Amino acid sequence: MTEEKDVLILAIESSCDETAASVVKNGREVLSNVISSQIELHKLYGGVVPEIASRKHIEKINQVIEEALTEAGVTLDDLDAVGVTYGPGLVGALLVGVAEAKAIAYAKKLPLVGVHHIEGHISANYIENKELEPPFICLVVSGGHTHLVCVKDYGTYEIIGRTRDDAAGEAFDKVARAIGLGYPGGPKIDKVSKEGNPEAIHFPRAKVNESEYDFSFSGLKSAVLNYLNGCQMKGEEYNQADVAASFQKAVVDVLVEHSLHAVETYGLKKFAIAGGVASNSSLRKAFEDECEKRQIEFYHPSPVYCTDNAAMIGVAGYYEYQKGARSGLDLNAVPNLKLGER
Ligand code: KG4
Ligand code: ZN
Repeated sequence: MTEEKDVLILAIESSCDETAASVVKNGREVLSNVISSQIELHKLYGGVVPEIASRKHIEKINQVIEEALTEAGVTLDDLDAVGVTYGPGLVGALLVGVAEAKAIAYAKKLPLVGVHHIEGHISANYIENKELEPPFICLVVSGGHTHLVCVKDYGTYEIIGRTRDDAAGEAFDKVARAIGLGYPGGPKIDKVSKEGNPEAIHFPRAKVNESEYDFSFSGLKSAVLNYLNGCQMKGEEYNQADVAASFQKAVVDVLVEHSLHAVETYGLKKFAIAGGVASNSSLRKAFEDECEKRQIEFYHPSPVYCTDNAAMIGVAGYYEYQKGARSGLDLNAVPNLKLGER
C-alpha cells in the first residue's frame, strides 16, 4: 500500500482585527498559529475602526505569514494549497488577506481555496477533538454572529436558528461599555462576573415567537441600560459585578436552552460551540453540566481557537480542498457572505 502524501495548507485570516496565518497538516494538525492582534489599538476608540484595521493588516501580514512558515518549519515550496477567509467580515480587512493569498497562489502556482469565516469557527472544533466527525449541532457565538447550525457533513450546513438583532458577542461588548468595562467587553464581563451574583437582578430571557431556535439580545441589552438608568435616577450605586453576572446568566440560559433543545430534536448526541463567546467560562461550564445530565457529548475548542485565528481557516480549507473546491484568481472579498454559500 502506498502511503498517502501529507497535505500542507497555508491559511490566512484578516476579516476583522486579527492578522493571522497558520500552517495546517492533513486538516487537523496545526504546525503553526500566528496571531497579531490589533485590540490595543482599537481600545483607544472603544471598538474596531475599519480603516485602521485594514491599514494595520497591510503592515503586519507579510511578517505574520513568514513567522507561520518558520514556526512550522516549511517554505512556500512545501505547500499544497493556500486557504483564505473571503467573508463575512470587514471588506477592507478581508481584501488584504484575499490579495495576499492570491499573490502567493499565483507566484507559487498553488491552488487557492476561499474559506467562509464561520465555517472556520465551526471547524476549530476538529483541531483538538480528533474523534469529532459530523453530524453534530454547533452553536456559533462571536462578535458578529450567533448561529445555531446542524453540521451535516464536512462543508454541509443547515442553519437552524440565528439572532434577530444583536450577536451575543455584540451584546457582551455593549453591556461592558455601559458598565464602564471598556473594549473588548466579553472577556472583561467573564472576569468580573466571577465576583458577582448571577441571581441579583432578573433580566429577560427573550423568546422569538415564530422560531423556537432564533435568538434576540437587543431587549436584554435595553433591560440592562434601563436598570442602570433607574439606579442613576434614584441616586443609587449599582454593583458592577452583579450586573455583569446577571446579564451573563441571562445570555447563557438562552443559549443553553435553545441549543440543547435543537440537539434533542435533531436526535444527535453531539454538540459543539465555536466563536469568541465560546471561550466564556460560565457558558462552557453551563454546557458541560447540562450535556452531562442529558448524555450529550460536548466539544469546544481551546480559547485560542475560539477567537479569530487562521488555524481554523486551514482546517475548513482542508476539507474544501479535499472535496475539490478551488477559487479563481478573481476571488473577491464578500463582506456579507452567507453560511453554505460559495
Ligand atoms: O470570534 P471573534 O474573535 O470575532 C468575530 O468573528 O466576531 O469574537 C469576538 C467576540 C467579541 O464580541 C468578544 O467580546 C467576545 O467574542 N468574547 C467573549 C469572551 N472572549 C471573547 N465573550 C464572552 N466571554 C468571553 N470570555
Ligand atoms: Zn470570528
